[in-house]
Amino acid sequence: MNFKENINPKKLPKHIAIIMDGNGRWAKKQGLMRVRGHEKGTKAVREVVEASAELGVENLTLYAFSTENWNRPKVEVDMLMRLLVSSLKKEIKTLQDNNIKLNAIGCLDTLPPKAFKELQEVIEKTSSNNRMTLTLALSYGSREELCNMVKEIANEVAAGEFSSKDIDESVINKHLYTRNLPDVDLLIRTSGEQRISNFLLWQIAYAELYFSEILWPDYRREDLYEAIYNYQNRERRFGKTSEQLS
Ligand code: FPP
Repeated sequence: MNFKENINPKKLPKHIAIIMDGNGRWAKKQGLMRVRGHEKGTKAVREVVEASAELGVENLTLYAFSTENWNRPKVEVDMLMRLLVSSLKKEIKTLQDNNIKLNAIGCLDTLPPKAFKELQEVIEKTSSNNRMTLTLALSYGSREELCNMVKEIANEVAAGEFSSKDIDESVINKHLYTRNLPDVDLLIRTSGEQRISNFLLWQIAYAELYFSEILWPDYRREDLYEAIYNYQNRERRFGKTSEQLS
């Protein structure tokens, strides 16, 4: 089936988030070092970014490095950080050519200074692009984000800026790293694992979950089209009944 041809452009998910998993297993299968899987994974990143922008998806968020990933062997962490810097340098052209704005969420101040600086530069240079927002989750953990949100709100309440009675979902949204993004509509995880792994816990409340068996380095635009086609053929009820929706 040609999934792309069957995608309804009027029913696109406004926000797709992806847990890019399986780089290490891909490398192992080829008899290569884990880091080669990450390198190969950058090709899949480019394909998915370009395909999303071309389709008209407004927001794409990629889980590139979690707070827990700092516990990996130092050689792998260092290599991932170097890969981030080289990818940012190389892919700024892809972002500009496709009118894509770069954004980042997470504890960005824990990134190595070189990575932080490169990231800020690309964010700045692409800040007026408006076809799609590409958000990289870097040193990101949802529980950390939620703790940070609670601290910020508690400080504002303590300072008398507003009353705790006025805390509602919109106040919480405004204190998350994703404050400028809509809720996630479609969450994709590759490599056959079926977990959320501390990713956007609040923001996926009503997301459709899609698990693919494909290891991330092998993920291609056709696989994204299939996930979107599958999403469009589900009934999203948001707690209502089928009858209410029709
Ligand atoms: C998960 O695979 C992947 C990561 C922890 C890193 C994701 C990074 C990339 C796709 C490349 C760089 C990305 C950017 C945005 C520059 P894993 O290592 O956990 O795989 P495994 O579960 O098979 O071991």
